Amino acid sequence: GQPIDVNLEAVEPGQAITVTWRGKPYFVRRLTEDEIAAADALGEGDMKEFAPIDTRLGGEEVKDWVIVSANCTHLGCVPKVVDTKPEGWYCPCHGSVFDMTGRILRGPAATNLPLPPYVFTSATNLVIG
Ligand code: FES
Repeated sequence: GQPIDVNLEAVEPGQAITVTWRGKPYFVRRLTEDEIAAADALGEGDMKEFAPIDTRLGGEEVKDWVIVSANCTHLGCVPKVVDTKPEGWYCPCHGSVFDMTGRILRGPAATNLPLPPYVFTSATNLVIG
C-alpha cells in the first residue's frame, strides 16, 4: 500500500475523523487538553496493556493527536468515539472500552488499538504508511 496524506486543517480539538489506509480504517483524533489530562491521569492498574501516554501521542509539537487502528483488537468491530473521559472509545460488539489514546481499559479485548506507521510533515499534514 502507498502512504496516504491526511490534511488536518479542519479537525478541531475534540474531533475525530476516520481515514482508510491499505483498505483498513484508522482514527485520527485530536484531543482537547482535558482529554490529554484524563489519559495522563491513568496508571498501570487502570488498563489491561500498559503503555506510557507518550508512546500513544503524536510527539512533541503534535501531542494532541492520536492515530490508531479503527478495528477493535477483540474481533475487529469499529468502536464508537465517546468522550466520557477517561473513556475514549466504546466497542458496541462486546463492550470493550479504550481510553482517549486507544489503550484497553476493560472488556474482552486484551490489547491496545495499534498505531500505524506515520509521520507529521507539518502541523497540519499527516502521512500514514
Ligand atoms: Fe470489540 Fe468484541 S469486537 S469488543
